[in-house]
Amino acid sequence: MKNIHAATARNIGRAAEVIQAGGLVAFPTETVYGLGASVYNPAAVARIFKVKGRPAFNPLISHIADVDFLPEYAQADARATALARRFMPGPLTLVLNRTDDNPAVDLACAGLRTISVRMPDHRVALELIRRAGVPVVAPSANVSTTISPTTARHVFDSLGENVDMILDGGACPVGLESTIIDLTGPQVVLLRSGFITREELEAFLNEKVVPSSGNPSAPKSPGQMLRHYATRKPLRMNAERAAADEFHIGFGAIAGDLNLSASGDLAEAAAHLFDYLRRADAQSRHPKIAVAPIPGEGLGAAINDRLTRASCK
Ligand code: TXA
Ligand code: MG
Repeated sequence: MKNIHAATARNIGRAAEVIQAGGLVAFPTETVYGLGASVYNPAAVARIFKVKGRPAFNPLISHIADVDFLPEYAQADARATALARRFMPGPLTLVLNRTDDNPAVDLACAGLRTISVRMPDHRVALELIRRAGVPVVAPSANVSTTISPTTARHVFDSLGENVDMILDGGACPVGLESTIIDLTGPQVVLLRSGFITREELEAFLNEKVVPSSGNPSAPKSPGQMLRHYATRKPLRMNAERAAADEFHIGFGAIAGDLNLSASGDLAEAAAHLFDYLRRADAQSRHPKIAVAPIPGEGLGAAINDRLTRASCK
């Protein structure tokens, strides 16, 4: 694990230099660890796709460190600007129209006329982006379709030494990828559920946020393929009890072999989810995984979304 480095000021400075030189740096955000490169470096962006085994039609999120940079980088109308002022930094990604003169590498946008942008709420991520001096494109730092990483060790277990540097900033506090909304049409469309819930966005915007039409073979968000976050073992949801061959992930009063949150706290459950899925996969006593019912409201929608994709064969 010689490419894992503590996220000290000095190492963040070195990591920024790696990005400027066209390398790949994995870094913590409040959601999950990202695999970062300069959005302006074609070879580095291409290497992200290669290392992850990611299809080239799946675009990347640009991470910025300053809300005021948003209107320079993409077409941000009044609605987008208001959302940015309210929720950035934070686990919300905005899909906006790309300006004609935006020099981002086309592969980063997968050839689309839109561009997705977020400002992570994490000290290490923000300092890295600021010191690199460029927007940093970063998908989750794992092999495509597998469980997203919430610790530096998870990154190493998935990508090994194909990453130039892994900045270790501890466990990610949110634990689920950002909420993604598409602002390019008249209606706001929810492309991926996350910590910032649809209800919260609707209350702020005072308008409906419509779930994406959900045709999984032609998704509006190209990364929303149905099979994603896959565990190696078969996974069953809404399991009040586990069979003898199932490792049971509990929630609330259903204790299980590991409990996502004994007090039934959805934020705590989200923060544990990916780590517990990995542990369930890694232990050798049970060939299958069962997960207790999780309520569907609020953050529960995002947790159930990830579980549904993980359970899909
Ligand atoms: O929390 C996060 O968003 C993490 C951390 C590292 O920031 N990043 C992340 O990236 O989850 P990734 O690449 O694993 O997921 C990005 C999703 C994909 O489903 C992709 O298809 C979608 O965002 N996406 C990116 N740009 C898009 C665009 N212009 N239009 C529609 N969907 C887009
Ligand atoms: Mg991902």
